[in-house]
Amino acid sequence: MIKILAIESSCDDTSAAVLWDNNVKSNLIYNQEIHQQYGGVVPEAASREHIKNIIPVIDAALKKAETTLQDLDAIAYTQSPGLIGSLLVGAHTAKSLSQVLQIPLLAVQHLQGHILSCLIDEPRPEFPFLCLTVSGGHTQLVVCNSASDMKIIGESQDDAAGEAFDKTAKLFGLKYPGGPLVDKYAKDGNPTKFEFAKPKAEGLHFSFSGLKTSVLYFLQKEMRKDDQFIKNNLNDLCASVQKTIVDILLNNLEKAVEQTGISDVCIAGGVSANSELRNRFIALGKEKEWNCYIPKFEYCTDNAAMIGIVGYYKFLEKDFASLDTPTAARSTF
Ligand code: KG4
Ligand code: ZN
Repeated sequence: MIKILAIESSCDDTSAAVLWDNNVKSNLIYNQEIHQQYGGVVPEAASREHIKNIIPVIDAALKKAETTLQDLDAIAYTQSPGLIGSLLVGAHTAKSLSQVLQIPLLAVQHLQGHILSCLIDEPRPEFPFLCLTVSGGHTQLVVCNSASDMKIIGESQDDAAGEAFDKTAKLFGLKYPGGPLVDKYAKDGNPTKFEFAKPKAEGLHFSFSGLKTSVLYFLQKEMRKDDQFIKNNLNDLCASVQKTIVDILLNNLEKAVEQTGISDVCIAGGVSANSELRNRFIALGKEKEWNCYIPKFEYCTDNAAMIGIVGYYKFLEKDFASLDTPTAARSTF
């Protein structure tokens, strides 16, 4: 059996997980609340919080998994993409542990983690499967031929789906990150009350920045007539924006299934925690006879278990990193 400690620190969550083969024994996440007061992630503050929390989070993850440092066979960590200062904290912790313990290092691309998070639990999709990754930084349609062979067939040309949620939520005066709050208020709202622009993009690509502008102009116009407009219509505004984003995502996913002929389909990343996306994805899958997969809620938003699962497959392929492996703010696969 292979025992892996995985570390994820690409943005504002400090997370550590322990996997025994592909079984997740623990997956702890420390959310940094410091950013809420600024309405977005402050990179320098994120790095400092990671430094404070990374060792306690690793300790707690090992304890929960009843695993000691000496039991470990490898250390997996997020190598890219993300905030460089945040990534460096995880990378250096992982490199130091691998040196001290003399065990291999597994460098993981964060988005591959989101994609393979659907392989953590049963039932698992068969290769090749199609994945719609929707996070705060990325929106991608990916054909996953194997754990190490993935091809992007569509992606956002501007804002990510999570940014579309967070930026419109900010216009409604909601706290960062606004995505989960839009989801919450939308539950009591009418999704067809307001209609917003659906920006067009070529082929299987996405575009979201026009949506934010369309919401901004609409709010400015309505607030001139009624300065309580947002307060009085918050639920309907949230439901209508959410519907627009989910329409854009599922429309392209449907096209991607038609074009590739792949019917094992999963959604992953922070926005896959969205209840409307989850419900409508499952309903569409039933109608179209797809095999649909959604990772457990705790594996949708950033977490170390998903880094560990990629690490597990890399370990099997002996795809090890070294102390020289650079950490990168941007990357693709
Ligand atoms: O994958 P993730 O945790 O971090 C990145 O890699 O970016 O995704 C974070 C994003 C944020 O934009 C957040 O607002 C969004 O996921 N998000 C949601 C929900 N939960 C998280 N968006 C809509 N509805 C949700 N329930
Ligand atoms: Zn992420």
